[in-house]
Amino acid sequence: MTTSDTQKPMKRISAIVMAAGLGKRMRSKTAKVLHPVAGRPMVWYMTSLARRMSDGHVVVVVGHQGEQVKAFLDQEKKALEPLDIVVQAKQLGTGHAVQQAKSVLMPKAKPVSELCLILNGDTPLLTQATVEQLIAQHQHTQAVVTILTTELDNPQGYGRVMRRPTGQVVRVVEEKDASSEEKANQEVNVGTYVVQSAFLFKALDMLKPNNAQGEYYLTDIIGLAVTQGLRVGGMKTADSAECFGVNSREHLAFVEQVMRQRIRSRWLLAGVTMLDPNTTFIADNVEIGQDTVLYPGVTIEGTTKIGSETVVRSNSRLTNSVVGDGVVIEDSSILDGAVVEAGATIGPFARLRPGAVVRTKAKVGNFVELKNVELGEGSKANHLAYLGDATIGKHVNIGAGTITCNYDGFRKERTVIEDGVFIGSDSQLVAPVTIGEGAVIAAGSTVTKDVPADALTLSRTEQVNREGWASRRRAWNANESTKAPKKGATKSQGLTSKGSKKKPR
Ligand code: UD1
Ligand code: CA
Repeated sequence: MTTSDTQKPMKRISAIVMAAGLGKRMRSKTAKVLHPVAGRPMVWYMTSLARRMSDGHVVVVVGHQGEQVKAFLDQEKKALEPLDIVVQAKQLGTGHAVQQAKSVLMPKAKPVSELCLILNGDTPLLTQATVEQLIAQHQHTQAVVTILTTELDNPQGYGRVMRRPTGQVVRVVEEKDASSEEKANQEVNVGTYVVQSAFLFKALDMLKPNNAQGEYYLTDIIGLAVTQGLRVGGMKTADSAECFGVNSREHLAFVEQVMRQRIRSRWLLAGVTMLDPNTTFIADNVEIGQDTVLYPGVTIEGTTKIGSETVVRSNSRLTNSVVGDGVVIEDSSILDGAVVEAGATIGPFARLRPGAVVRTKAKVGNFVELKNVELGEGSKANHLAYLGDATIGKHVNIGAGTITCNYDGFRKERTVIEDGVFIGSDSQLVAPVTIGEGAVIAAGSTVTKDVPADALTLSRTEQVNREGWASRRRAWNANESTKAPKKGATKSQGLTSKGSKKKPR
């Protein structure tokens, strides 16, 4: 190996995500970048975009609730690695935020990549295509900085992009520092920048907080470049919705709508039917198979995966669940951390809690709750049951009103129901208990001991029939009511009448 082989070639582009701000205008205890859009924190969209754009380092600058932001990014490590997280202890402005990445991107005064892509942490609608275009334009024009801009009907709150009559970008003026003339300019800075690394870190060292907010503005590197006679580019995009920066809850609600719409379009294009797309909520990380049909009011969230040709009826919510092909989920069912295999039927009004596994062609009917339980292939629990901490074999019939008594006030115990068992209605299975293969539990039984295979278990008092009892009771009642006390009579007079027959027992 020669020396030149061991020297890593300079990467083309690193990326920085600014995610340290609190976002005062959100009026929240939670840092702005942690607020979710379509089920994922904003910082996820920005970091994932940064990762896709960079062939080298991705640095996320955290500050407010930095620990929580870091914990979230750690959790998503698989998709985002390699990732560096740096801390901006005090939020002194966007210029200061980017400076915190210097130790990673310019160690020993030498940049690790030719370019840096810098992203605001609060523009989750920004697309890869637009950023790719920005990078391409930057390289084509040989500028030291290229910024993304767009024109807005209402540019309020954004930095305005000032150009010379020739079109050359010369400066970005923040709203709070702008004259009324400058404020009238509708071309705004999106907060997406491609900068030559060597220039970037030199310029950041020169920033001064001489402005209305007393902050180190990243945007001031533009004016600096121009004063040094260096070229600055501005790429104006027509899709201004994509450029939306979230500063308030109103903005968040808008971005949520657009993101949901995008996700729905993706699945409609992939062959999913939605009867009423506007009321169908699908989180960003969900997967759905072809020819699956979603009825109005369905919510699919978390890491849920749904197979093909499955039907999910109205008002059902699926969270972190895996649903196979050809499953029918009837109305108003809730699945959380559940697995449902092909051909199974769930609901209406079923509740599958974490650890519920419904095997192929099994049926879970109305008002049935499952928790940490496996319901074997072809087994049925069609009505009103609680099944928790249990293993239920194949082709088992669970009668209406069956309850696994899994909790004794101190600990949870398991119930095992082997293949082919028939559990009669209104039975209680007091765990720990095992019902052997093929056994039959008579309706209304309370089972406290293990049941051998193929046995019949009856556990209830024997039935007694008293013939004629009901008519005797009616006669007694009629007789008693004719002896009702007269007005003004004392209580004891009414009850001590002689000659009345005994009440039938
Ligand atoms: C910024 C731009 C503005 C642009 C707008 C687009 C500056 C000075 N202004 O303004 O020109 O039109 O975005 O949406 O850059 N952040 C930090 N540390 C800080 C301050 C901010 O990490 O000290 C992060 C925030 O978490 C946020 C991003 O930087 O993700 C932008 O900050 P924000 O305060 O929202 O800037 P704007 O006022 O919107
Ligand atoms: Ca902003």
